[in-house]
Amino acid sequence: MMINSKIFNIGDYRRKQLDSQLDEFTSVDADFYNFENQEGLKIRLNAYENALKDMEKWFLNNEGVAILDGTSSTRSHRKWLLERLRRLHIEPIFIESFSDDKDLEKLNINALIKSSPDKKDFDFYEEKIKNYIKFYESMNEYNDEKDYTFVKLMKKADGMEQAVINKVQSYLESKIIFYVMNLNYLNPSKVIWLSRHGESVYNVEKKIGGDSKLSERGLLYAKKLPQLLKEQGFDENNQMSAWTSTLVRTNETAQFLPFDQILPWRALNELDAGLCDGMTYEEIEEKYPEDFKERDDDKFEYRYKGGESYKDVVLRVEPVMMELERQSNVLIITHQAVLRCIYAYFMNIPQDQSPWVAIPLHTLIKLEVRPYGACKVSLIKANIPAVSTYKEKGTSNVGEDVSNKSNSSRSLLADTN
Ligand code: F6P
Repeated sequence: MMINSKIFNIGDYRRKQLDSQLDEFTSVDADFYNFENQEGLKIRLNAYENALKDMEKWFLNNEGVAILDGTSSTRSHRKWLLERLRRLHIEPIFIESFSDDKDLEKLNINALIKSSPDKKDFDFYEEKIKNYIKFYESMNEYNDEKDYTFVKLMKKADGMEQAVINKVQSYLESKIIFYVMNLNYLNPSKVIWLSRHGESVYNVEKKIGGDSKLSERGLLYAKKLPQLLKEQGFDENNQMSAWTSTLVRTNETAQFLPFDQILPWRALNELDAGLCDGMTYEEIEEKYPEDFKERDDDKFEYRYKGGESYKDVVLRVEPVMMELERQSNVLIITHQAVLRCIYAYFMNIPQDQSPWVAIPLHTLIKLEVRPYGACKVSLIKANIPAVSTYKEKGTSNVGEDVSNKSNSSRSLLADTN
C-alpha cells in the first residue's frame, strides 16, 4: 500500500514566526512552554493555525496522510484541534507516547541537542519537559475523548510496555497504527549497516539478476567485511545480526561474519527482472527496445515482463523495514535495487529518484538514524576494486559518467561522503 504523505512540523512554523520577531539579543527560554505563559501560548497556537492552513492547501491537491507534528498535550487543545480539522473534513488520529524512564529522557535530550534546529542545551530541554508535564493530560478512552481515534504507547521505567488503541475506523487507520506501533519511537538514535554483496560473476559479465557466485574480488570483500566493521568500533561482544537475501552471492558475502545470527530473507532478494533475467543491458536494449526506453523513462513504476518494478520491491520489503524499525545494530547485505529502496526510506529520497542512486560495490554504509528525520551517512570503502554496475539513463553501458553533472540523483549517495 503506497500513500502520499507530508509532515507539517509545528516547531518549524513557530521558528519561522519567532525568527521574524526576535533580534539576536533575545531568545526563547523554557518558560515559553509554560501553559501559563500567555504570550508563548499565543505564538504556539498561531503556529498551529499556519500549519493547518498549509495542510488544507496540501489536501486540495493531494490524497494521503498529513502528519501534524506538534505537542497536543491537553484535552482542551485536542478538542480545539479536532474541531478545526473536522471543519476541513480531515479525520485525525492522535498519537501519544509516554515514558517515565529518566535514562530514556536523558538519551532523547542528548539526541535533541545534536539534531534539533532549536540548538539548545540540556537544562533547556529538561525545563521544557517539566513545563509540559505540569499540564499534561493523557488521552482518555473513557470520558470526553472516547470518540477520538488514537493510539497511546507507554513504556515505563518498571518495564511495563503497553499500547491502547481507540476507535479505529478504517483500514488505513489500522495500517498507520500498525506502523507506529512498530517504530522504536523512544530510541533516539540507532545505527544500521548496509552493504551490497561482493562483486559477483554476473556483475563481471555485465549480466543482471541470476544467482551467481562471488568473483574472486567479491570473495576478498567478504573476507574483509568483519575487519571493516571492527575498524568502525563494532566489537564482537555487541549483539549484532546480519540479514541477507536467499541468494548465493549475499550468503557468500556474510560467511565470515562473527555474528550469532545470520538471517536470510526472501524479501531481500534482488528485483526480479523477469524475461530479462540473465541478460546484459545491451541485450535488453537490442531485444526489447521499447521496454528499455520505458524503464528509463519511469524506472520506479516500470515492471519487467514477468518480473517486478521498484514499486513492487518497496512493497515487498515492508516487513523487513518494520522489523528494522524495531532493531539497531543490524547489517543488511542485499542487492543494488533493494538497497536503493532501503536507503531512500531512511534518507527521505523521492520515489522517482530512488532507482537512480549510486550504491557502489565493496562499500560498507553506516547510517546513524536520529530525530528530526536526520540521518548521518558514512561510506567505508574496502579498497578492493570492483566493476561498476551503474547504468545511466539513456544508455546500455554500465559505469558512471562522472562528467555528467546533470544526473543529480546519482550523486546523492556520493554527496554524503
Ligand atoms: O547489476 C546488478 C543488479 O543487482 C541486477 O541484478 C539488477 O537487475 C540491477 O542491479 C538493478 O539495477 P537497475 O535497476 O539500475 O537496473
